[in-house]
Amino acid sequence: MTEIQARRHFLRYLAGSPLLAATAFGPTRVLLRAAAESGEALELGEVVSSVDEALSVFDFHAVAREKLPPAHYGYLATGTDDDYTLRANREGFRRYQVRARRLVDVTQVDSSIELLGTTWPSPIVLAPAGNQKAFAPEGEAAVARAAAKTSSLQVLSMMTTTAVEEVVQQRGEPVWFQIYPGRDWGLNQSILKRVERAGSPVVVWTVDQVGGRNTETAKRLARTDERDCSLCHDRSSFEANVRRKPMLSSIDRTAASGNGPALTWDSVRRMRDLTTMKLFVKGIVTAEDAALCLEHGADGLVVSNHGGRAESSGRSTIECLEEIVSAVGGRIPVVIDSGFRRGTDIFKAIALGADAIAIGRPYVWGLASFGEEGVEAVVKLLRAELNLVMRQAGAPSVGQISRSHVRRAA
Ligand code: FNR
Repeated sequence: MTEIQARRHFLRYLAGSPLLAATAFGPTRVLLRAAAESGEALELGEVVSSVDEALSVFDFHAVAREKLPPAHYGYLATGTDDDYTLRANREGFRRYQVRARRLVDVTQVDSSIELLGTTWPSPIVLAPAGNQKAFAPEGEAAVARAAAKTSSLQVLSMMTTTAVEEVVQQRGEPVWFQIYPGRDWGLNQSILKRVERAGSPVVVWTVDQVGGRNTETAKRLARTDERDCSLCHDRSSFEANVRRKPMLSSIDRTAASGNGPALTWDSVRRMRDLTTMKLFVKGIVTAEDAALCLEHGADGLVVSNHGGRAESSGRSTIECLEEIVSAVGGRIPVVIDSGFRRGTDIFKAIALGADAIAIGRPYVWGLASFGEEGVEAVVKLLRAELNLVMRQAGAPSVGQISRSHVRRAA
């Protein structure tokens, strides 16, 4: 065990100690915080030295934790407030159990799905995550190549550090694009037109961050980073800051800053009318809003709380899924993300009615650890785990995973 691993072990032990929690005041409290770092850090795997050694996505997390500077790791790991919703996303999966059926022929397992008429080899989508050059020098381009190798659906964030045109080139085909629209519809339209020209068939509008957020873990870890951030981040002016974001020009101030706090459901129709792309709404957590998505002409929705990064509801997305699936009634595709780390998590979501699932942090851990190879390995690991649980549960195709394959634990 290396010195760093030994320290981690010790800190994890401390974080789990009820004695320490009971007396967590003053300096001890600081220690406890450092130990927990975030809800996510409690699920670190082993620090492996190559992709072949990794046994689960958590091993990529451990490597990413080692390699990334504290501020960048904090940006990746953070939830909101005390990371309560981040943890809830993981705990939610434990509230559902798999009901395995026996003696079904599972010699051939097919985890392919169809989404808006396109067939994908698995239900695993790469969620939009901004600023990927903060995790590896090639950022979104490396992810695009891994997506090409695994034939994965990649959703590019508007906060990308690589232009959509280059990502499409590296992917070898168009990607889906995620937007945070602002109040200025002329600017929104200019971004949409650029993305349309790049061939994107779908725009994903993220609606769960309009109220602002308190990313406390990110702030705490940034304080411990001794590097000079101004060497890379020029925050002297808005224009200088967005220069690193190729989908934003210096005039896109509303889009980049406010995320449109004044936008309402009426804006969904407006957005639809501005583009020929299909429109997904990302960040839906209630049946009422799922119904509004349908009413306002959305072509699909993403059940998401931004991986616990947008709100402190304390409600996991897997527990939001059923009411949304029932409100949608199969009329539009339902994708879900937040907290997916295991094949069984994916299986449970499909059984509860999701058409696809998306991962954020896991593939970014892969990117931060081993670049393109790491992203590829994360996707392959999760696919292998999903195929395994499909065999174990007697569901040889995604269409055969049914509601009766899961039960809610008492
Ligand atoms: C995100 N996410 C995100 N979502 C979005 O719509 N636009 C964005 O720019 C970003 N940026 C971003 C950066 C980073 C570092 C992370 C980790 C996440 C949220 C993302 O799309 C997805 O909803 C969550 O990551 C899913 O949760 P898990 O898989 O990370 O638990």
